Amino acid sequence: MPSEFPQKFSSELESALSTWAQRGQRRSLAEIPGVNLCSNDYLGLAQSPRLRGALAEAVAAAERVGSTGSRLLSGHDRAWDELEESFAEFAGTEAALFFTSGYAANLGLLTSLAGPDDSIFSDALNHASLIDGIRLSGARKHIYPHADLNALESGLRERQNDRGRKLIVTETVFSMDGDVAPLREIFALAARYGAGVILDEAHATAVHGPQGRGLAAGLSAVAASHGAADVSRGDAVVTQGAVDGAENVVAVVHTCGKALASVGAFVCGGALLKEYLINRARSFLFSTALPPYLAAQVHAALRLAQSMDAERAALRQNAQALSAVLRRQGWDTASSSTQIIPVIIGKNDAAVAAAAFLQRAGFAVRAIRPPTVPQGIARLRLSLTAAITPDELTRLADALQAFRDESVSEGRRETASHSAAPRAPQLLAKTSAHAAGAHLDFTESSHRTTDAQDTGDAHLTEAWSRR
Ligand SMILES: Cc1ncc(COP(=O)(O)O)c(C=O)c1O
Repeated sequence: MPSEFPQKFSSELESALSTWAQRGQRRSLAEIPGVNLCSNDYLGLAQSPRLRGALAEAVAAAERVGSTGSRLLSGHDRAWDELEESFAEFAGTEAALFFTSGYAANLGLLTSLAGPDDSIFSDALNHASLIDGIRLSGARKHIYPHADLNALESGLRERQNDRGRKLIVTETVFSMDGDVAPLREIFALAARYGAGVILDEAHATAVHGPQGRGLAAGLSAVAASHGAADVSRGDAVVTQGAVDGAENVVAVVHTCGKALASVGAFVCGGALLKEYLINRARSFLFSTALPPYLAAQVHAALRLAQSMDAERAALRQNAQALSAVLRRQGWDTASSSTQIIPVIIGKNDAAVAAAAFLQRAGFAVRAIRPPTVPQGIARLRLSLTAAITPDELTRLADALQAFRDESVSEGRRETASHSAAPRAPQLLAKTSAHAAGAHLDFTESSHRTTDAQDTGDAHLTEAWSRR
């Protein structure tokens, strides 16, 4: 008798897919043409001829194009040692260990440092890789509302007398809201309650901090002169000249797939942490190393990125200008203060409609829906890169305004035809739908800013022409 399994299996999968479709949560793979506003290539390095050249050279010179095994077997190469040394210097830590992705780094780190006797305090908006690492570690989870220091403190206080290790885990630049974690306050709480801190700099790597070294380096939370620390005993990495409590930072994760236009990630911290992870992190131990030519790509990207202060400044200036205009137009952009600007729409189908409208207007924008973000705050996630021109941003703001106008008049039409009480459009407008005089002034702003900030259009154009 033929097995019933294949048919049952298919119908279960189909039913799940149709449930997700009904909820407006079914996803599909597609390349979207247009000005790319969903890319993490913040410095525009993915199309850099210099980076391409460095990679081509490395491939040509490589003894082998496959790594042939995990780092502990045949996959190790001197190129990884050299890269890890350079990256540690960049991050301001004693050591760094390369993982094949940020996801693998977070999983490996969290499952190595925490177990069922330990407690992890995690910001509610942390990335899925952190959430999964925490789950897999088996540690007690304390999810505190986004950036809510009171909630974090009361969780820490509750666990004050526990014998297990306490770790606070946060992104530095939040991937969906584009805001920055209150690091100084988190460090102070960590010091007060004897907790370690793990920072994920994925969206800050090469973009924020001095020479793009990240927000932790910007606060001197990590220093090249770490003393020895035994993380397995609960010691933290020793730091010098740092803000209060920064000595409790045990690890900083930097990823290479975003602004470094490559792939992989580094866990940066003390030499003992590195040694410990080499022996313990399963996502490091049991996974094939990336090909050694990729070490050359990351190395070249790192060198290029450090010299891109002008692009970083232009990106910052464009992000500030766009955020200001969107807020004047009445959009809720959460607390974004970086190159990631969410436009909170609310319902899933409204977010999908907004994305489709912008796509028709020539912008590659995607709707971000649960489970990536909490229910009820589906959004467009605009991520700016140094390759986007002020003119493109002006057109983007105009397109968003046109979408708002269309939604408002559709809302009115529907209201009239149902002769019901006026219904607010699904868009979460903070102010009036037609914010008077909202217009983009990228070019004007370059006249107004101080020398320190003013690297705006000129550099952006330079960055554009160098691509
Ligand atoms: C905050 C954060 N951490 C980690 C990751 C995972 O990095 P990777 O894409 O290299 O796996 C991402 C990716 O989107 C991220 O946004």
